[in-house]
Amino acid sequence: MADKTFKLNTGQDIPALGLGTWQGEPGKVKTAVAHALKAGYRLIDGAYCYGNEDEVGQGLAEAFAAGLKREDVFVVSKVWATYTTRCELGLQKSLDKLGLDYVDLFLVHWPLLMNPEGNDDRFPKLPNGERDIIRSHNHVDTWKQMEKLVATGKTKAIGVSNYSKRYLEQLLPHATIKPAVNQIENHPALPQQEIVDLCKQEGIHIMAYSPLGSTGGPLLTAEPVVQIAEKHGVPASTVLLSYHIPRGSTVLAKSVTPSRIDANLKLIDLDADDVKVLNDYSDRLGKEKKFQRFVYPPFGVEFGFPDKS
Ligand SMILES: NC(=O)c1ccc[n+]([C@@H]2O[C@H](COP(=O)([O-])OP(=O)(O)OC[C@H]3O[C@@H](n4cnc5c(N)ncnc54)[C@H](OP(=O)(O)O)[C@@H]3O)[C@@H](O)[C@H]2O)c1
Repeated sequence: MADKTFKLNTGQDIPALGLGTWQGEPGKVKTAVAHALKAGYRLIDGAYCYGNEDEVGQGLAEAFAAGLKREDVFVVSKVWATYTTRCELGLQKSLDKLGLDYVDLFLVHWPLLMNPEGNDDRFPKLPNGERDIIRSHNHVDTWKQMEKLVATGKTKAIGVSNYSKRYLEQLLPHATIKPAVNQIENHPALPQQEIVDLCKQEGIHIMAYSPLGSTGGPLLTAEPVVQIAEKHGVPASTVLLSYHIPRGSTVLAKSVTPSRIDANLKLIDLDADDVKVLNDYSDRLGKEKKFQRFVYPPFGVEFGFPDKS
């Protein structure tokens, strides 16, 4: 499965599996990236906000020195919320840290603006401790800036992240370039089917984040996941990562542990019964209003997700 790819609306091939780098502990990310590339990963997902793109760049440099070609790796970065009125600067800062001339995909990390002149480069706060957010900003204006980046050659494609159906419907009528990707939290406990369906209809590829439930992998013990893992004699992580392939989505798995990075490469074909068990689990959680969203920063902004509205 390591070499399975999907086609983006730009014509680019995007790997089905990528290495995530959020919360990659300092000192471990370079080794994780270099190890993953050696093991066969061909997609690295990063972001300016993660504060470790320099280490991601060092890991890439190690792989290039060992013979990997730049064009054989799909590198993703994201414009952070303090740069959504300065997207080209945001991209350049990421490129400088990564030590690259271009990324393959640049995403709007979250559709909002945090004060670019606030008291912190990434997480400006008001005197009362709340996040310093400019609420009059329109996310469509950010997209207009993103569209200009393609001609600079500094990114091959542009896309969004954390876009709900409502936000996408606001954006699409104004888009000259359609987003290539919407990167969202996605797993059987948060299928976000309404967004996935709209993206499919519009030719926007889904990148699924937090497939294990994020920090510590809380979904690894979910009963239906364990049941399918036992049936196939594979780790629960394999089931959660493999869930995305028949959905036609790319999945991002974060690990800084070499043995897990290797294990996560081994995806399997889930059969129709497995898919039904996972979909029934999602339906049950939906009916009981028990969807689990593990990543929801305290912006205090209504992003239009039904489970949060
Ligand atoms: N666009 C966005 O807003 C956004 C938000 C969240 C995430 N993302 C992207 O998606 C990536 C993945 O999501 P995530 O980092 O939230 O969480 P995740 O990949 O669901 O889970 C990561 C956690 O699972 C552990 N783990 C990994 N493989 C495992 C295995 N085989 N067995 C047991 N435990 C395992 C990791 O531990 P160790 O590292 O200690 O091994 C870590 O604690 C991120 O790193 C980031 O690149 C994007």
